[in-house]
Amino acid sequence: MESKVKRITTRTLAEMKARKEPITMLTAYDYTFARLLDEAGIEVLLVGDSAANVIAGYETTLPITLDEMIYHGKAVVRGARRAMVVVDMPFGSYQGDSKAALRAAIRIMKETGAHAVKVEGGETILDSVQRIISAGIPVMGHLGLTPQSIYQFGGYRVRAREAAEAEKLRQDARLLAKAGIFALVLEKIPASLAKEVTESLSIPTIGIGAGVHCDGQVLVLHDMLGLTQAFSPRFLRRYADMAHIVSTACQRYIQDVKNRTFPSPEESYE
Ligand code: KIV
Repeated sequence: MESKVKRITTRTLAEMKARKEPITMLTAYDYTFARLLDEAGIEVLLVGDSAANVIAGYETTLPITLDEMIYHGKAVVRGARRAMVVVDMPFGSYQGDSKAALRAAIRIMKETGAHAVKVEGGETILDSVQRIISAGIPVMGHLGLTPQSIYQFGGYRVRAREAAEAEKLRQDARLLAKAGIFALVLEKIPASLAKEVTESLSIPTIGIGAGVHCDGQVLVLHDMLGLTQAFSPRFLRRYADMAHIVSTACQRYIQDVKNRTFPSPEESYE
């Protein structure tokens, strides 16, 4: 019989911030990787809409649909025994109509079994955030370089370097925290600003390209494993060269099949 493992919750994350223990988060999109990451000890699995890029091959995160996010969410939840699973709400599912946003968040929670949702933006999506939280659904925020707004930004450069944008980010962070989000992703902003926001909030911040002073860190799994090669921002540390491992293994397989050394008699049935 499998032993019962204590699930990471919003409360665990708050306690980790209080005792200054860094929180680890990675993206996951399928059962196999979710299980490996969970067993490795990752605390939060983010079913990121970066699935649009690294799984579906789109240029941006905009095209992925709610049904597709739910499909990935279900697979990740099946692989996660201990980690908290957070599912990104896709572009178009929460901006504008807060009732529609709540319906989308409810679908994610009911159909995937995930433990929270994530949304990008501040003041402009506050109604949706409040409505989703009022239904008892934990919400993770996301400020700074928010990829769903990429066409408005006109590129992937560092955000909030200018005083006005930095002040807007501080204000959005305060509003989201007041609305009751349980954690906040800060993407590609100056480390000094991320430190200031982290120290000013009682909820944990999770950084990506936001320096070492955030309460936790997140990376896109396929980037940190070296599966993606074209994407090389300064903040990305590659922990493996899996593109090379996969490519070499496939070349060896092709060779073995072509020269009939696979399968061997031991790999065949009488
Ligand atoms: O979709 C995603 O992978 C994300 C992370 C970059 C935080 O939102």
